[in-house]
Amino acid sequence: MSTPRAFVTRTLLPEALDIIREVADVTVWPEETPPPVEELRRQAGSSDGILTTIMDRVDADLLDAAPNLRAISQLAVGLDNVDVAEATRRGIPVGYTPGVLAKSTADLAMALLLGAARRTSESERWLRGGGWQIQFHPTHWLGQDVHDACLGIVGLGQIGREIAKRARGFDMDIVYHSRTRYTDMEAEYGVRYAEFPDLLGQADFVVLSVPLTPQTHHLISGPQLALMKPSAILINVSRGPVVDPAALYEALRDGQIARAALDVTSPEPISMDDPLLTLDNLVITPHIGSAALPTRLNTMKLAARNLVAGLRGEPMEACANSEATP
Ligand code: GLV
Repeated sequence: MSTPRAFVTRTLLPEALDIIREVADVTVWPEETPPPVEELRRQAGSSDGILTTIMDRVDADLLDAAPNLRAISQLAVGLDNVDVAEATRRGIPVGYTPGVLAKSTADLAMALLLGAARRTSESERWLRGGGWQIQFHPTHWLGQDVHDACLGIVGLGQIGREIAKRARGFDMDIVYHSRTRYTDMEAEYGVRYAEFPDLLGQADFVVLSVPLTPQTHHLISGPQLALMKPSAILINVSRGPVVDPAALYEALRDGQIARAALDVTSPEPISMDDPLLTLDNLVITPHIGSAALPTRLNTMKLAARNLVAGLRGEPMEACANSEATP
């Protein structure tokens, strides 16, 4: 059998690429930006396997152009850019990377939560702008306490559960809402279930850790923001379109909620003209939830092993459609 061909849509760390190079002839897209649709079609058309990121659209059109494709490996836990059902229909396994990045993403969720509560970015901007003229002022920069506050976690998947573990260390009172109620996990993670409107009404901090699906698109929009406390802080580490950005802008501008912290936006990258960027009560980072070096390396290696398994016709370690696996 001839050596399979693999297309990797973004530069990976060498340790991960080496795993694929052991079994395949690898082409790596050399640019910083993702391959244009036509280029992805062309490359996929002559490949047996592709390794993709969240910016590459893998849909029926792409799969039509790639008759030899027998493995798709996504370097992410979220699969909203991949038509998994279409891949399944064609018997193509889709690998992804659950588990390895949940802790780092939960760490970042806590960093955003703490930063927004205690106004670290805002006060740093003020200091760097020359605002710190009085040694200590008893009424300046008052933020919110995190300890003993109520945290509402929306989505109790791996990331949501890691957030709960961390929040317990901060003595937070934790409620969660998710599609499925996990009664078996409630005691272990110290969380109690709440209906979505109740969670929004009770929580001092609302953290979103759900996948993007048609059901979660604009899960937080005007009516949901109206249920939140005026002192509440919204944190999004899931996908940008889970929040309606225009509604969030209005809620932050009008003081309907106190602050927000976003690691994801809609669109990405956020436009520098986006009105959200004019607000001081917004903390924002450029989709860095899992961007810690050891985690990213482990994620890349898992994606590489998934691709290799698919190319060999073996079950992938983490497969979103195991029914398509031989
Ligand atoms: C990153 O956003 C991921 O889904 O892993």
